[in-house]
Amino acid sequence: MTSKNSLPRWYPDHPPLYDIEKTYLENATHGPFFSGEIPERIFPPKEKWIDFLGFKIASPLGVPAGPLLTANWIKLAAALGFDVVTYKTIRSQKHPAHPLPNMIYVNTHGDVNAQLADRADHPPKNIEELAVTNSFGMPSMSPEFLMEDIARANSFLKPGQVMIVSVVGTPRPNESFQDDFVEAALLAKDAGAKIIEANFSCPNVAKKRGASTCPLKRFSKSVALS
Ligand SMILES: Cc1cc2nc3c(=O)[nH]c(=O)nc-3n(C[C@H](O)[C@H](O)[C@H](O)COP(=O)(O)O)c2cc1C
Repeated sequence: MTSKNSLPRWYPDHPPLYDIEKTYLENATHGPFFSGEIPERIFPPKEKWIDFLGFKIASPLGVPAGPLLTANWIKLAAALGFDVVTYKTIRSQKHPAHPLPNMIYVNTHGDVNAQLADRADHPPKNIEELAVTNSFGMPSMSPEFLMEDIARANSFLKPGQVMIVSVVGTPRPNESFQDDFVEAALLAKDAGAKIIEANFSCPNVAKKRGASTCPLKRFSKSVALS
């Protein structure tokens, strides 16, 4: 069945991969919730591949930091044809998610304006009307889990695909935020990250405006490791 502009129907025929009724940990442990078919991937010839930070990628289609919680999520995104996949932001130490709800549907009333938006009880029928807001608190698995899982995630990539690992520092009393940022990056590197993205962007965590004391605007930066 199709919606009014002929886009395929999404909900409830194809529910989201992330179940917002479940906790972050349940999604990370048991997701992604996907029952569709994986379409056959036809890779372009290698001479058409693109240089991305020194890596040859088959296409510049990717998934930003956030939706890909663990290696199993990276595996699905790569199989579905995303060639630059980002492992959700990790910390140097295990960190819990905020309690539910972590994500809600929003009625935008046709305008992306926080003043007008209100909570929607159900997802919209048409995917082009889909709007959500979320607050997860930048949860992170333990370093032991990440060491194995990041390596596992890399193993699912085909030639022409690359993974970025997003990292963030955690402000703790009497500890250097900057040093912790470096520790998270070194954890990613030791686990086999080929590209690291520093998350300078996530609001609502630890302080009212950003996790750090650094006066940084919404911004993430990636560096390739040789
Ligand atoms: C559910 C969700 C989780 C996210 N988690 C992260 C995250 O862990 N780290 C991060 O840097 N950005 C995270 N983001 C932000 C996305 O990376 C960002 O939305 C994406 O880059 C698109 O950019 P835009 O929202 O500015 O258009 C998250 C976004 C969503 C919707």
